Amino acid sequence: MAVDYQKLGFVNTKEMFAKAFAGGYAVPAYNFNNMEQLQAIINGCGKSNSPVILQISSGARKYADQTLLRYLAEGAVAMARKSGYQNQIALHLDHGDSLELCISCIESGFSSVMIDGSHLTYEENVALTTKVVEYAHRFEVSVEGELGVLAGIEDDVVAAKSIYTDPDQVEDFVRRTGVDSLAISIGTSHGAYKFKPSQCSRNEQGVLVPPPLRFDILTEIEQRIPGFAIVLHGSSSVLPEYVETINRHGGKLEAAVGIPAEQLRQAAKSAVCKINIDSDGRLVMTAMIRKVFAEQPQEFDPRKYLGPARDELTKMIIEKNESVLGSAGRE
Ligand code: G3H
Ligand code: 13P
Ligand code: ZN
Repeated sequence: MAVDYQKLGFVNTKEMFAKAFAGGYAVPAYNFNNMEQLQAIINGCGKSNSPVILQISSGARKYADQTLLRYLAEGAVAMARKSGYQNQIALHLDHGDSLELCISCIESGFSSVMIDGSHLTYEENVALTTKVVEYAHRFEVSVEGELGVLAGIEDDVVAAKSIYTDPDQVEDFVRRTGVDSLAISIGTSHGAYKFKPSQCSRNEQGVLVPPPLRFDILTEIEQRIPGFAIVLHGSSSVLPEYVETINRHGGKLEAAVGIPAEQLRQAAKSAVCKINIDSDGRLVMTAMIRKVFAEQPQEFDPRKYLGPARDELTKMIIEKNESVLGSAGRE
């Protein structure tokens, strides 16, 4: 028997995406692995009055336990409502890799799941995704599928090269599987090293500038499946200020490059209704923790370094919602 996600205060992504599509913005999907990240997401989205998708990856489940994270998310909704934040909140499985995992998340109260069959053959991806959709829709749980492969690490799977989504496949995939949204590959990738320096040019300040995303492919996909919600993974900007803070305080992140905010703004105005951000949150937390350790070496109370990290992450989330995704103030 599945736990009714509505009773936990979650919504599926149907209405969220319809509004994002009509309003020309994208709903943020932030990953969390612990309490401080979750508090920052809820506080940041509350302060900017944005709908939000709370994402739990396979790495998060291994680190913190799926059940614990689900209960934390339920608690976060209660906290949000108490503070007057009434906007929509979905609980989503990020990069689900099997029907069994999707079932277990649906049974425990997730309102949305991703089945990532992007590493399978096309027909295997269709077959697996269809099975997940058949199960999930019985409980009005939304399903995100993926076509095309992002370079980098997708949970435990490493792909050296991205394989852009083939616009010729999208209509058939969406029709046959019945998915509610589709993650596509147009040049983004996971992690803090999205492009090799050799792929980038340098601006006047010597900062690496990555090649643009393949908006031509996105446009073609939009034409093949008009009105359909598209998802962009790997959308952290790898904010230079935090990379610099990390390196200034003993870190060693060399040639880290992300997706420029301007390109995300452009994507958010298109059929892209969900933008996934994880690495930027990790960088913010690492930067603040390293700063506290360097400046206040006498501190040993985790609240004294996790607290500032949480506050800075809250600020970053407000900034993303307000000036990149455009989701702030959308009811
Ligand atoms: O898909 C990538 C996400 O950033 C999650 O990564 O499995 O290390 O938590 P993770
Ligand atoms: P980033 O690594 O760019 O934050 O992407 C996160 C993501 O796509 C989670 O599914
Ligand atoms: Zn992803």
